[in-house]
Amino acid sequence: MTIQRIRSKTAKTEALLASPEMADHVPETKRMSRDTVQEMLLRYGMIYVKPVTGTFGLGVIRVEWHPGKVFPYRFQSATRKYRFRSFDAMYRKLLLVKRKRSYLAQQGIELLKHNNRRFDFRVMVQRNPYSVWETTGIIGRLAHPRKIVTNYHSGGKPMSLDALIREHVNESTSLDEIKQQLDSLGVEVARTLELAFPKIQEIGIDVAIDTDLKPWILEVNTMPDPYLFRKLNDPDVFRRIYNYAVAYGRFPSRKRNRA
Ligand SMILES: Nc1ncnc2c1ncn2[C@@H]1O[C@H](COP(=O)(O)OP(=O)(O)O)[C@@H](O)[C@H]1O
Ligand SMILES: [Mg+2]
Repeated sequence: MTIQRIRSKTAKTEALLASPEMADHVPETKRMSRDTVQEMLLRYGMIYVKPVTGTFGLGVIRVEWHPGKVFPYRFQSATRKYRFRSFDAMYRKLLLVKRKRSYLAQQGIELLKHNNRRFDFRVMVQRNPYSVWETTGIIGRLAHPRKIVTNYHSGGKPMSLDALIREHVNESTSLDEIKQQLDSLGVEVARTLELAFPKIQEIGIDVAIDTDLKPWILEVNTMPDPYLFRKLNDPDVFRRIYNYAVAYGRFPSRKRNRA
């Protein structure tokens, strides 16, 4: 069985926008240009610009506009922070930092924090051995204190959903409701994406939860790292993820190896 990997974040975002229900959970995303950065900064105050085919949080930049301040235009890439008096000065530097790569600009979501560090979630969704989409794992990722991305490969710390979200639940939304919501969002994302990419077998969705507890789909990975889920305290979760992946042929089965 072949496994389809789609690298372009633009192609995956467009596929999601085909469903109005999914579109409601996708931050506005455009091709990065002087005009789109200016217009989206004005509208949202904070945006993320990132490589169309990036991974590991590399090259991801957070851009902010603070009207009324002496240095209203700011951005951060990795741990480096820059401030500017004018939009033009900022945009010039932004072009240098991003280099020649093709970038998109996305509405910024204010992530929830734990110990003053941002966090988001990775939701793993796989076809089970009956070929039915199933959410098989959810893990939280706590950003490195000085970074604006949560990726493990950029110093993010994997943590259980419970430990991160407990302090944020309230009377109207319980922990179980949030889990249930992420679970069904995951399956819906898979069903929507497979309309455009019928060969996908597994996806790893980066989901942000904003301060109103609304989930947002930041990106979908079509070749997600299953080993991240070994960092959970629950070995059954990783075992199931791995077994499903063996079933659709991402990893050779032990039996086949021995034969
Ligand atoms: N629109 C956004 N709003 C807030 N945080 C974001 C946004 N886009 C990306 N991030 C942060 O940056 C990380 C990396 O971005 P992502 O789009 O997943 O790129 P990559 O393919 O490098 O993982 C996300 O996990 C999240 O922590
Ligand atoms: Mg990601």
